[in-house]
Amino acid sequence: MKPAIGITEKHLEKSAKLLSALLGDEMTLYIKTRKFHWNVSGESFMELHKLFQAQYTELEETIDLVAERINKLGVKTIGTMKEFADHARLKESPGKYPSQKEMLKELLGDH
Ligand SMILES: [Fe+2]
Repeated sequence: MKPAIGITEKHLEKSAKLLSALLGDEMTLYIKTRKFHWNVSGESFMELHKLFQAQYTELEETIDLVAERINKLGVKTIGTMKEFADHARLKESPGKYPSQKEMLKELLGDH
């Protein structure tokens, strides 16, 4: 059912499309942050391991808000890894395990 919130159908769909791209990006960032949490090593292991955990925990809340907002616009929310990747503007780096400094640089850029 389309919501009666004073936004035209065309703009509802455009808003949902933009939010779906944002959701794809947030999921990509979430997965990347998890990967770094699991794979960080070296001198600052514990500090970065905890930092990444705090970040992906916050991302979970943002992801849920964005996902539910899409649904409130009367559009089904995407929910598979393929859909997230298809909608995302951020890119993953399969098979790459950067240094601590590179992890931080990549996450900062993605944020
Ligand atoms: Fe953990």
